[in-house]
Amino acid sequence: MLQGMIFPKIENRILVGVLSFVTIMVLLGWAAINEGGRMAAFEQTFHARSIEQGAALFTSNCSTCHGSDGLGGAKGPALNNPQLFGYDFFPEITKEIGALRTEKADLQNEASRSDTTPERLAEIDTRVAEIDARIEELDAPRRQQLQAAIDRGYDPQRPSRLQNVGWAGTTESFVLTTLIHGRPVSNNYWSGGGMVAWSQTAGGPLRMDQLEDLTAYIMNWQRAWTIEDLFAVKQFAIEPVDPTPLRAQIEQLQASGGVIPEPVGTNVRDIVAQLADVTGDPARGDALYHGTNGARSFNGTALGCSTCHLQEGVAVGPQTGGTYTRVLNERLNDPALASYTPEQYLVESIVLPNNYLVPGFQGLMIANFGQNLSIQDLADLLAYLETQQ
Ligand code: HEC
Ligand code: HEC
Repeated sequence: MLQGMIFPKIENRILVGVLSFVTIMVLLGWAAINEGGRMAAFEQTFHARSIEQGAALFTSNCSTCHGSDGLGGAKGPALNNPQLFGYDFFPEITKEIGALRTEKADLQNEASRSDTTPERLAEIDTRVAEIDARIEELDAPRRQQLQAAIDRGYDPQRPSRLQNVGWAGTTESFVLTTLIHGRPVSNNYWSGGGMVAWSQTAGGPLRMDQLEDLTAYIMNWQRAWTIEDLFAVKQFAIEPVDPTPLRAQIEQLQASGGVIPEPVGTNVRDIVAQLADVTGDPARGDALYHGTNGARSFNGTALGCSTCHLQEGVAVGPQTGGTYTRVLNERLNDPALASYTPEQYLVESIVLPNNYLVPGFQGLMIANFGQNLSIQDLADLLAYLETQQ
C-alpha cells in the first residue's frame, strides 16, 4: 500500500519497463564488449600459434643458414637484425649525410655538362671537397662507435636493407615475397647456395600458410632495438660487387605485389570491381599466357594457357587468335550471357571456366586459376587477350 502510494500503479509499470530495458541494454553491451574481447583474444592466440609454428619451421628449414637465433652466419644474413627492419641508430647523421650526397651528385651532374664554365667547375670542385670533408667529419665518430658491427658487414651510412635494395613495400611483404620466390641470383655472392624459393607453387617444399607462419615469426623480432642488438648480429646482408642482377630481381619481386600478394579468388563481381584500379600490361600478359622466359604468376605458378589454347587452330580449348572479337560478336550475343560485359566474361572464363562452356568444348579448363593469379596477373592476361582481335 505504501509502495502503491509512492509509485502509483501506472508509473510502477513504466518503471519496470524502464528497468528491464536498461538491464537488457547493459547485458547486451556487456556481451558485445565481451565478444570483442573474445575476438581479440582469439586473434592473439591465433597469431601466437602462427609465430610458434613459424619458430619450429625456422629451426628445421632456415637456421642452418640464418642461424638458430636468426642472427646470421656464413651461409645467410641475419634476419633478427635492426637493418632488416630499417632501424637507424643515428637518424640525424644519416639524414644530413643523405642530403650532402644528393647535393654532391647534383654538382657532379652539373660538372659533366658541356656548358659548365671553368670558373663554375672550380667552384664545384671546392664545394665537393667541402662536402666530402663534412661527410667524413659526421661519419667518423659513428664509424668508430659501430666498428664491431662494421667488421661484420654493417654500413652505417645505409641502415635500411629495404631502402638499399629499393623495396617500396613493407618489411612483411619483403620477407614473404623473398620466401615465396627465393633470390636466385644470391648464389653468386653467398657461398652456401643462396636463398632458394620455398613456396610449393614455385617448386619449393612449403605451403603458403607455412610461409605466413615463418613471416609472423620473423616479424616478431621487431622490437625497440638497442645498439647491443646491432652488435649481436653475426652477419649482415652482402651487397654484390655488381648489384644490377639483384636490383633487377628485386624489381621483379616488387612487380609481383610490393604488398602481400593475394590470389584473386572466384568472386567475379569483386574481381571486376578491383580491376577498375589496375592497369594491365599486355606484354606481361603475353609472357604469362605462353610461359615465355619462365614467366610465372605472383605465387610462382606456370600458367600454361597456351598448352590448351593455340594461336591458330583448336586444341583442348578455343584458339587464342580472335578471342576478343569472338567475345564481342558471338559470346555476348548468347542469351545466357545477356548482361555480361566483355571484361566480366573474360574474368569468369578464367576463374570459373565451367560456369559457361564455349559451345563445342568440354569443361576441361583448369578451374583453380583463382588461387594462382593476383589481380595484377589477371589484369595483364586480360590486357593481352584484348589484343587478340
Ligand atoms: C642455403 C642457405 C639458406 C637457407 C636454408 C635459407 N636461406 Fe634465407 N637467405 C639466404 C641467403 C644467402 C640470403 C641473402 C640473399 C641476398 O643476398 O639477396 C637469404 C635471404 C633471406 C631473406 C631476405 C633477407 C634480406 O636481407 O634480403 C629472408 C627473409 C630469408 N632469407 C628467410 C629465410 C627463411 C624463412 C628460410 C627457411 C624457410 C630461409 N631463408 C632459408 C640463404 C638461405
Ligand atoms: C587444360 C586446358 C586449358 C588451360 C590450361 C587453359 N584453358 Fe582456357 N579454356 C579451355 C577450354 C577447354 C575452354 C572452353 C570451355 C570453357 O568455356 O571452359 C577454355 C576457354 C577459355 C576462354 C573462353 C574463350 C572463348 O572463346 O570464349 C578463355 C578466355 C580462356 N579459356 C582463357 C584461358 C587463360 C587465360 C588460361 C591461362 C591462365 C587458360 N585459359 C588455360 C582449356 C584450357
